Amino acid sequence: MACQWVILDADQARWTEVLEAPAQALREGRLVAFPTETVYGLGANAFDAAAVQGIYRAKGRPSDNPLIVHLADVQEVRKVASAFPAIAQRLAARFWPGPLTLVLPARPQLPRVTLGGLQTVAVRLPSHPVAQQLLRLANVPVAAPSANRSGRPSPTTAAHVFADLGDRIDYLIDGGPCLVGVESTVLDVTVTPPVLLRPGGIPKEVLEATVGAIEVPAPLQPGEHPRAPGMKYRHYAPQAPLLLLEGPFPAVVQAAREELWLAEQAGASTGLITDRAYAAQLSATVVRILGDPGETQAAAAALFDALRAMDQAGVDRILATPWPRRGVGEAVMNRLEKAAGGHVRRVGTPAEA
Ligand code: TXA
Ligand code: MG
Repeated sequence: MACQWVILDADQARWTEVLEAPAQALREGRLVAFPTETVYGLGANAFDAAAVQGIYRAKGRPSDNPLIVHLADVQEVRKVASAFPAIAQRLAARFWPGPLTLVLPARPQLPRVTLGGLQTVAVRLPSHPVAQQLLRLANVPVAAPSANRSGRPSPTTAAHVFADLGDRIDYLIDGGPCLVGVESTVLDVTVTPPVLLRPGGIPKEVLEATVGAIEVPAPLQPGEHPRAPGMKYRHYAPQAPLLLLEGPFPAVVQAAREELWLAEQAGASTGLITDRAYAAQLSATVVRILGDPGETQAAAAALFDALRAMDQAGVDRILATPWPRRGVGEAVMNRLEKAAGGHVRRVGTPAEA
């Protein structure tokens, strides 16, 4: 059965009326997809083990991958976390509501399934007004991963959610496209110094201005377990193989031309995910321009839709050009690397020049 697709009008005064039924559905253990500033989330009452089990089932998500618990108010942290260290409070005061997730010691009352078997809980307060209103009305902490089928790009529009999960959820709340476009930054504050588990909507250097140095785990060795269980899975995967190029502009242009030419010789259709400057130099079967060069915020907002568009067009190979690794560009490159499943080629390095 298809879900109820709830569209909000511009008149915020009417939201309460419209969101009351989905909020009640959450309290009663049903699944509700909702917009946040980062990506759409698939929510269930975090204290209802059967409801949370339903999230894993709907997404086809491995059960050792814990969920982020979403709260309406910072006062509610104590409902899910057994401690709220000073450093976490400083970060919360500065960045909540917003795209920052803090890993804290979990209250033992939280069901195992919400925590993926860990002793810690990931918590955030989203800044999207629809998410906030829904969470206030639901009046329960809401566990919500991104509302995509496991392994697909995260959804940044209601249509993306519907395509993946429309027949598996009770409500889909449409709040328009997500403005940030990549998921929240996940920071483990149970250790000193804090550890960056996932680059995201708030850049590491911005967090460091508030709390000092943040540790970045070394790349995983084969057989090693990552500290954010989700980071071990191949995420954001488009159906066609994706090659990410990295290097100075002229070298990337040259390498991209070669790749595109080779694909053409092989009779393969090509998709190009790029910025306006590269697009002026290259041609492919399907071209998605995410923004002007260096506009990392625009790239973040448009990235997942571009990956889905490549699937829809059914291209045989995808090529992506690089974005600067500063600001949210770090998260954009992280998601592209994951979509590439490790196929990253550095060109024009001193060794090659
Ligand atoms: O922006 C976001 O964070 C979105 C929106 C919906 O809020 N949510 C999201 O959830 O991206 P998800 O489930 O797709 O990603 C959660 C990430 C995973 O990599 C997971 O392993 C990690 O956070 N995580 C969750 N709980 C954790 C914990 N206790 N310790 C370490 N990592 C945790
Ligand atoms: Mg996800």
